[in-house]
Amino acid sequence: MTSNTDSKESTKLDPRWGEPTPTHDPRILANFKPRASDVLITTAPKAGTTWMQQILHQLRTGGDADFDSIDAVVPWLELQRDGMSWHDIIERFESIHDPRIFKTHCTYEQTPGTDTVKIIMSSRDPRDCCVSFYHHVMDMTDDARKRVGFDRYHTLDDVFKAWLQYAAWYRNIQSWWPHYHDDNVLWLRYEDMKRSPENSIDQVIAFLEWDITPNRRSKALEYSSFKWMKTHSEKFTRQSESAEPTFKPGGFIRKGQVGDHKTKLSTEQEQRILEKARQLLEPECLEFLDLTA
Ligand code: A3P
Repeated sequence: MTSNTDSKESTKLDPRWGEPTPTHDPRILANFKPRASDVLITTAPKAGTTWMQQILHQLRTGGDADFDSIDAVVPWLELQRDGMSWHDIIERFESIHDPRIFKTHCTYEQTPGTDTVKIIMSSRDPRDCCVSFYHHVMDMTDDARKRVGFDRYHTLDDVFKAWLQYAAWYRNIQSWWPHYHDDNVLWLRYEDMKRSPENSIDQVIAFLEWDITPNRRSKALEYSSFKWMKTHSEKFTRQSESAEPTFKPGGFIRKGQVGDHKTKLSTEQEQRILEKARQLLEPECLEFLDLTA
């Protein structure tokens, strides 16, 4: 006799969940059981995901400095884990107490529970995301780079071309923009969070409707500051269940600045990033993201 889960596995998955990669397991997405109390952080890579994971975890706990890895307390939803089947992963997700918080890089279409959960989108200037991604690749341990196939990138130009061609930033923004006004979606920009973390945290608190005391709010601000996260960067260096860090010491929480692309990208590279954004995104979206000039 086939169990319920086995029969689900043998059924062909709906293509909406996307193609499998080491960081995207469509079987997890298809079998995830969303709860109304869940919060999903959705971002393009390097747009401030970890920062938002830390803000939400600290608001939830009232100040937790004891966790080993942020991904253990705020898991990456669609990530395959070495030595774990998707059944194990779903089972682990089921055992997490409310309110659960997950991070995801899925498009809107691939995200489970979009009509059930609360979603916080964090976006960032694509030029800064691209440069941050270059450092992400360079700051990985040699083993981790090999594992995910990034050992073929050696220069900024290699990474720039791959980033532009893979187009994760563009897909993410394109798919979420039509949902900007959805009641269960809060969209924050990295640049605004940098300008006023206090304002941003207040927006988050109002959106989640969690009962947050002033003391809890100030702890969350302190523990999610760049300074605190840099000092405790070992908590942010893993991206899997393995005990091995994915990043060299200090690599992941790097510089945290707006406009860092100016130190790295050529005028031509910058223009190519912006041109692609102008081809693919609506004028209102470009304006909102400050990419018109
Ligand atoms: P830089 O490489 O520009 O420094 P993600 O978590 O989506 O991968 O994004 C990583 C980027 O967010 C890195 O950018 C990292 O330094 C920055 N970051 C992490 N924590 C931050 C914080 N508390 N304040 C500002 N930026 C932060």
